[in-house]
Amino acid sequence: MCGIVAALSHHDVVPFLIEGLRRLEYRGYDSAGLATLTGQHLQRFRAVGRVKELEEASAGHAAPLGIAHTRWATHGAVTQDNAHPHRSERDGRSVCVVHNGIIENHAELREALRERGYVFASQTDTEVVAHLVHEARGRTASLAEAVRMARAQLRGAYALGIVCSDDPRTLVVARQAAPLMLGLTAHQQSVFVASDASALVSQTQTLVYLEDGDQAVITQVSESSPVVVRIEDMQGAALVRESTTTSLTHDDVDLGPYAHYMQKEMAEQPGAVAATLETVVGAGSLAPGLFGSEAEGLFPQVQRVLILACGTSYHSGLVARYWLEDIAGLPTSVEIASEYRYRKSVAEPGTLVITISQSGETADTLAALEHAKAQGQQLTLSICNVPESSLIRASRLRFLTRAGPEIGVASTKAFTTQLAALYLLTLVLAKVRGVLSPGAEAEAIQSLRHLPAALASVLTAEPEFQAWAAEFVEKEHALFLGRGIHSPIAMEGALKLKEISYIHAEAYAAGELKHGPLALVDANMPIVAVAPNDQLAEKLRSNLEEVRARGGVLYVVADQGAGIEPSDGVRVIELGDHAGALSPILHVVPLQMLAYHVALARGHDVDKPRNLAKSVTVE
Ligand code: F6R
Repeated sequence: MCGIVAALSHHDVVPFLIEGLRRLEYRGYDSAGLATLTGQHLQRFRAVGRVKELEEASAGHAAPLGIAHTRWATHGAVTQDNAHPHRSERDGRSVCVVHNGIIENHAELREALRERGYVFASQTDTEVVAHLVHEARGRTASLAEAVRMARAQLRGAYALGIVCSDDPRTLVVARQAAPLMLGLTAHQQSVFVASDASALVSQTQTLVYLEDGDQAVITQVSESSPVVVRIEDMQGAALVRESTTTSLTHDDVDLGPYAHYMQKEMAEQPGAVAATLETVVGAGSLAPGLFGSEAEGLFPQVQRVLILACGTSYHSGLVARYWLEDIAGLPTSVEIASEYRYRKSVAEPGTLVITISQSGETADTLAALEHAKAQGQQLTLSICNVPESSLIRASRLRFLTRAGPEIGVASTKAFTTQLAALYLLTLVLAKVRGVLSPGAEAEAIQSLRHLPAALASVLTAEPEFQAWAAEFVEKEHALFLGRGIHSPIAMEGALKLKEISYIHAEAYAAGELKHGPLALVDANMPIVAVAPNDQLAEKLRSNLEEVRARGGVLYVVADQGAGIEPSDGVRVIELGDHAGALSPILHVVPLQMLAYHVALARGHDVDKPRNLAKSVTVE
């Protein structure tokens, strides 16, 4: 959460800072700010609200060096005083800092700095960093050294960008457990910095990923000299970090013809799933190597599975449990990462610990993985959408979903690609365990080949879901029902609806209705039901009868042949034939489309729902 961009250049960097913040706005969007340094003149602009407010506040301003930030409040309310950059100004010296992450010992540092005469203008944890660097800069002649001295006092996670009025043409950035990367250009005319590659690809695809502990000092001897970078460790010794060329392009992060990123990302699902499955569907058979070079040796040791994740990624784990138990015969449990990390659990040998995350930076998922490892769990696998993420680096085995950047806060294509990956994993584990016959394997690969086309066909029903959405606009509550492997799909549908439309939505396994929730049902309660034509179809039909008898209006997403006919109070949209084991991947898409259109009809900012941010990097 929160986004950082910074740059030192021969040219004006303010347009890049504003555009970069716009790219990162999905990471946090309650306030934004920037600071520029021209010679020794440090200037700061901040605005509560979106990046466009900052753009207006800084209109007409130009500078060759700057740092900028878009915030998602953790410490302190959403006010201009709490917006970054934070400044420390005293004795003719001014320091500005932008920060992602959390300084855990900020309270004690604040107390000590106050005693040493520093006055605080915000409630943030970040302001201590500005004062610590300011103080240290008074004791050493170099900003890089001052930042190191300040960092030695910090506990927690941070990506930092720092400028000081005593140090013209100098930008110092540092990383500790929060992503930060540099963008390099030909002829060393500029160096760009960002917390996410999507902010850099409009300028360059040559990136250097900083590692934990790294500090980069970006300087220019004179206005016309090259911009140089020195990467250092905590002692100031030079480090070599290789540059890589990212495959991410400007088009990948551009909205194109779509009205919202969520709309774009829903539409991209057939392509994203096809890209995720690409290496498999071409081949005639599946191999453990898909999950990393060690998988061949490790998978035969797997006797059970533990899945750890949050939010939508947790729901994909819940779906996978059905596959892993049914197809691979592996006992599987799925836990919310934020709970597991604080629970004393019993570590059983032979457990494959799977962490699932779109971003690979979710603090609770990372901590849950560390907790599992600390308990002696050796077999770790991450399923993640971001190749350079912390999660990918922290696991022995990995599978990259190839959804491309997901920018809408409500996760869509990440979910369907995670499911595709988890289904593949199930097949591979089943094969390793000798419970997948060659015929069943060939059939499964064939159904995966067809999956992108099936997704594309579901997407064509969008106008029908849009029509349903109009009936939800005035509602305050909704129930989602599913059975079996589709009950996590009902949970995902309820999550999508609540997070972007702000309608209170709950999901139940349909068989659970009469044990309590049926009391909620009346004519004002819309009930969305996921109705595949599977072995539970008849049971679901009886559950829906119970609801209808209490006056609840039903919105049923049914497979052809599921036996649910439209009638008074029963709306039905039919998808294609039952897609067998892959059915949940198709049934979630209508629920995404419904949530999208309800949120639009209620006039909400679909990509940036209130109080939320993409990538929850704090606890
Ligand atoms: C909901 C949503 C969140 C995320 C959750 C985990 O639409 O996006 O619930 O799924 O914050 O994020 P990742 O997958 O990045 O670990």
